Amino acid sequence: LHIAVLMGGWSAERQVSLSSGNGVADALESLGHRVTRIDMGRDVAAKLSEAKPDLVFNALHGTPGEDGSVQGLMDLMGLRYTHSGLATSVIAIDKVLTKQVLVPAGIPMPGGRIVKSADVHDADPLPRPYVLKPVNEGSSVGVAIVTDAGNYGNPIARDATGPWQEFDELLAEPYVRGRELTTAVLGDRALGVTELRPKSGWYDYDAKYTDGMTDHIFPAEIPDEITQACMALALQAHRVLGCRGTSRSDFRWDDERGVDGLFLLEVNTQPGMTPLSLVPEQARHTGMSYPALVQAIVDQAIG
Ligand code: DAL
Ligand code: MG
Repeated sequence: LHIAVLMGGWSAERQVSLSSGNGVADALESLGHRVTRIDMGRDVAAKLSEAKPDLVFNALHGTPGEDGSVQGLMDLMGLRYTHSGLATSVIAIDKVLTKQVLVPAGIPMPGGRIVKSADVHDADPLPRPYVLKPVNEGSSVGVAIVTDAGNYGNPIARDATGPWQEFDELLAEPYVRGRELTTAVLGDRALGVTELRPKSGWYDYDAKYTDGMTDHIFPAEIPDEITQACMALALQAHRVLGCRGTSRSDFRWDDERGVDGLFLLEVNTQPGMTPLSLVPEQARHTGMSYPALVQAIVDQAIG
């Protein structure tokens, strides 16, 4: 096949996407496909028209790319592409819309409310500890965890500085103490559960993308009941949202509360494909190499 790999773009996750996209493109070439690498700019439609690929492999992360905009463009152009379609992407990139769809389906998620970041300077929006996060970013960009004992992000004060301030609106959610878990779904199968244990602080951007900063434990050393719950919830979320190909659901588990302490945080419809990313790692643990995973995602798109 002639496959265009769409990567980069201008989201906050541009560098992550370039790493995902080049990894995917190398794998596709090793599989014998003809590959055109496209670093997405405002001229993306012209580049796609010129390339005339059989399939677009979407390796974009964040906004735009994971948010439905590029999916809509490719729909209009009559191009086939990997991963989720327009409607699913619009919902899943938005952490508030995602709750509005998944909570009524019975999926446990933390409560939360939208706050103006300007108001957060004056008063805590929720009892501490809580999390402030942009509604539609990935890779923990702009996230702050606010605790009583000082916080991992930024102190909440008039003179505080920090990335969360760059967003007009933020989602404030109660912080779920305990453990960070994630589950990949490929096709109609949940691959397993990984626990992320950062060596210091929390699983932020640096801990995600700096080799050696986080231990990845697979299979997670947690009760079987929690493993089964993560896999069932990830698969259910994938289906309710109408995801295609692959997705990855991230969880927090309060290990003092048993299964009642398990909360889904979000569903990533364009999960990372970098050397430290979790979908490729879980696939490898189930016997699927990185190129085989890439081919499986291609097969889901054209099947
Ligand atoms: N947002 C990053 C790419 C992920 O979910 O893996
Ligand atoms: Mg995410």
